[in-house]
Amino acid sequence: MKEKLFDDREAMTNSLFNDLSEIIEQACREKDRLSIMLSGGSTPRPLYQKLSQANLCWNKIQLGLVDERWVETSHPASNAGFINSSLLQNKAAETSFQTMKNNAATAVEGLAVCNREYAKLPCPFDICLLGMGPDGHTASLFPGAKGLEEALNTDSLCAAITAQQSEVTGDFVERMTLTRSAILNSRKLILLMSGNDKWSVYQKAKAKPATKQLPISFFIQQNQVPMDVYWSP
Ligand code: 6PG
Repeated sequence: MKEKLFDDREAMTNSLFNDLSEIIEQACREKDRLSIMLSGGSTPRPLYQKLSQANLCWNKIQLGLVDERWVETSHPASNAGFINSSLLQNKAAETSFQTMKNNAATAVEGLAVCNREYAKLPCPFDICLLGMGPDGHTASLFPGAKGLEEALNTDSLCAAITAQQSEVTGDFVERMTLTRSAILNSRKLILLMSGNDKWSVYQKAKAKPATKQLPISFFIQQNQVPMDVYWSP
């Protein structure tokens, strides 16, 4: 695991942009299709905006989500809507993007379709970009959530989650998430976060053993996939 610490968010965004561009260009030279799984949250927004203007092999790239709230894409809380408005613009406007939300009334009912759709993506994923909440969640692997156990232990790609309502989840407790095994079936994990509160949560999550109380710990404490951590205040 590599930790890259920056003085401010702009420096962090620029550095991650350069590193991702390099990984993507390299992958594009080697193969015809690559997959990048994306997180929501305010931290990656400037990165996505910058990437959207970059001359990358967008026609080879298949984007997907790390997690989603079970709301329509037009809803302000939708991660798909967020990716549409931040990344799928400019040079990246036509990039193929697999969303998670489908027509089913609940995430549980939509799970089979979501698993089928995600099984069509190039796997292992080339890049999986994770964020982290102040509660130690990543993707929609929330501590104490209904469905967490299954999401941590299943071999399926996706899992339905009902989180405990908190300041972090807001009203949006009904979720779809990539599972632990799906996230670990990546060539590269990136953890992007900012703020001193998150730095201390991250330090707690490094303390052994990994715990369901801080789901991010399962990705920090593993040797299966190289993970680069980007942090700024
Ligand atoms: C959610 C949150 C969450 C978010 C992280 C990081 O799904 O309820 O939006 O998953 O990605 O908490 O968010 P920030 O980048 O905004 O700090």
